Amino acid sequence: MSDQYAVIGNPVSHSKSPAIHAAFARATGQDIHYRAILAPLDGFWDTVDAFRGAGGKGANVTLPFKLEAFALASETTERARAAGAVNTLSFGLHAVRGDNTDGVGLIRDIEINLGVDIAGKHVLLMGAGGAARGVLGPLLEQRPAILTLANRTPARATKLARFFAAHGPVEGCGYDGLQGRSFDIVVNATSASLAGDLPPVPEGIFGAGALAYDMMYGRELTAFLRWAGQHGAARLADGLGMLVEQAAESFRVWRGVRPATAPVIAMLRAG
Ligand code: ATR
Repeated sequence: MSDQYAVIGNPVSHSKSPAIHAAFARATGQDIHYRAILAPLDGFWDTVDAFRGAGGKGANVTLPFKLEAFALASETTERARAAGAVNTLSFGLHAVRGDNTDGVGLIRDIEINLGVDIAGKHVLLMGAGGAARGVLGPLLEQRPAILTLANRTPARATKLARFFAAHGPVEGCGYDGLQGRSFDIVVNATSASLAGDLPPVPEGIFGAGALAYDMMYGRELTAFLRWAGQHGAARLADGLGMLVEQAAESFRVWRGVRPATAPVIAMLRAG
């Protein structure tokens, strides 16, 4: 029987992960089967136990269970601890190892797929929830000139910035604090796009040649990317590349082989 993997979430039926991992398996010749499992909102641990009991080798974890997955793991990687969340579980005989591949997924998409260096750049990260926390450490590792964290509730941004202060130059503020400033890379890690909304960013935040990146994706441009295109961003990118890159890193963690991502991103874009 093929080695069994899954993505566990709620909701999960829309997940592209089974198609992504099936494509990785075909391309690398790895004999795996990967499916989507819906866990009840109060039944994440039971769902993981049942999958593991049935021989599951590893699982991706998506909303809203990334914090519970962190608590469930018996050991965690450094990047999972920095993120405070787990999106990749590997089941050993006794141990459950928790990892987080979201941050490296964003970095690889920006630096390799989009060809934009983060080093020395002025980077604005919007949002101070789980999505922002997951990528802060990896962004700072790339040595931006400054990483500005802006949030609707400014206290959450300043608190998170303090938490990461040892990792590099990071500051937290509200959106008012962005007046008169401009950035080379602006990443939307808020959940505003889910509601067709965008964060209250002042005009003029895009410097010359700036990249606007939304960690969300959909058939249409998100509200933030549409706004960015009309207000001076030179390049727009949604989170589809990040999704495929985080999946590739999970695949590497489980199988020891890094699959090529470009053909899979192209496959998903073609729809
Ligand atoms: P996630 O795990 O997706 O990050 P979260 O922890 O609920 O979800 O965080 C959501 C983030 O999106 C927060 O930073 C939130 O801002 P607040 O901390 O002020 O609540 C931000 N957010 C959600 N809707 C927003 C909107 N319409 N405008 C600006 N920020 C928004």
